[in-house]
Amino acid sequence: MSSTVTQKALVLPALGEHYAVADISIHAPGPGEVLVKIESTGLNPIDWKMLTTYSASIYSFPFVAGHEASGTVVEVGPQVDSLAVGDIIVFQGGFSLRRATFQQYCVVPVVHAAKVPSNVSPDEAATVAEGLMTALVGLYNTTAELNGKSLSLPPPWSPEGATKYIGQPVFILGGASSVGQNAIQVAKLAGHSPIITTASLHNAAFLQSLGATHVLDRRLSDDAILAELRTLTDSGAPLSLAYDAIALPETQPVAYRALAEGGRLVVVLPEQIPQEVKTPGDGKTVVFPFGHVCGPGNSEFGAEVFARLFDWLEKGVIKPNKVEILPNGLAGIPGGLARMEANKTSAVKLIAHPQETL
Ligand SMILES: NC(=O)c1ccc[n+]([C@@H]2O[C@H](COP(=O)([O-])OP(=O)(O)OC[C@H]3O[C@@H](n4cnc5c(N)ncnc54)[C@H](OP(=O)(O)O)[C@@H]3O)[C@@H](O)[C@H]2O)c1
Repeated sequence: MSSTVTQKALVLPALGEHYAVADISIHAPGPGEVLVKIESTGLNPIDWKMLTTYSASIYSFPFVAGHEASGTVVEVGPQVDSLAVGDIIVFQGGFSLRRATFQQYCVVPVVHAAKVPSNVSPDEAATVAEGLMTALVGLYNTTAELNGKSLSLPPPWSPEGATKYIGQPVFILGGASSVGQNAIQVAKLAGHSPIITTASLHNAAFLQSLGATHVLDRRLSDDAILAELRTLTDSGAPLSLAYDAIALPETQPVAYRALAEGGRLVVVLPEQIPQEVKTPGDGKTVVFPFGHVCGPGNSEFGAEVFARLFDWLEKGVIKPNKVEILPNGLAGIPGGLARMEANKTSAVKLIAHPQETL
């Protein structure tokens, strides 16, 4: 256990103020939880959006953001036998002060954590959880079917899903994003082919190394993208699945138009497809996932995912994002978030080392 009772955290004291480093208490793990010394935390768009778009969902002040990390178990709560002090784990955080990852210590439920294999560094591990959960929940969480947050397809690790997707095309918009990189790898795991994505072309070789078979320039017009898709899928099955990992007003319409009748689309932001793009009776489905283990209906599914994560990371089925380490520990995070908001990152996960905070 930590020998001190306080720690450094990146705190938002009140709405309208800025994130700043402050001292707060270290939390105690409850039953089924461990206390983790956070080695590396990933930055996500939600962390800057909490100051604007999502400020209404701030649970209390002082508020601490941070939604994914890796760290070392320093204390084990009651009823924990799967993890021990010294284990290095990967996990999602956030949605409460105890679980936020922009601090030096946080509490983690063991069912939503995985040990990090030796071929993956703690920095790399900190890039995995948020993007992977979002990709998987949108496609395969059968418990979320009724509320439009998942396509609820049989997962590739189920008997039905093991062969269902082989040779089926998929279109993934924004393959270079963190969610997009995971969606490509999940599509490869499922056996989809071709796996067609959009990105800046300087990322093409990297995305092909993850499993994309074709990378289209994301700056092509919608009509040009649709024409390319037809040439890539015409001889095979109709395009019945798309994952929009960007889901801005400029990407959702082409994602929707790309689908054949009855096709299915995941959008990572709320649906904004104009009515004029839709054809009555086209049978298309659009879902907007909440890609976090804390989301309604995600707990059991999240536990299934984290139970598989060590194996996927060790075998390279899921490769972490490339990382850029921010300087100055937690104090470096606001500058990183500003770069993300200004769209000045490309195919990289910004991470911070909370223990390096002065
Ligand atoms: N629903 C959920 O639970 C959930 C969970 C996580 C994230 N999200 C949302 O998902 C979105 C992506 O998050 P992220 O962390 O994956 O983002 P990210 O890694 O920061 O995304 C950066 C990448 O986006 C790509 N990009 C930007 N505009 C694009 C466009 N018009 N077409 C194709 N690619 C484009 C860029 O690709 P190039 O470098 O190739 O240009 C860049 O590399 C955010 O809006 C985030 O809030 C939602």
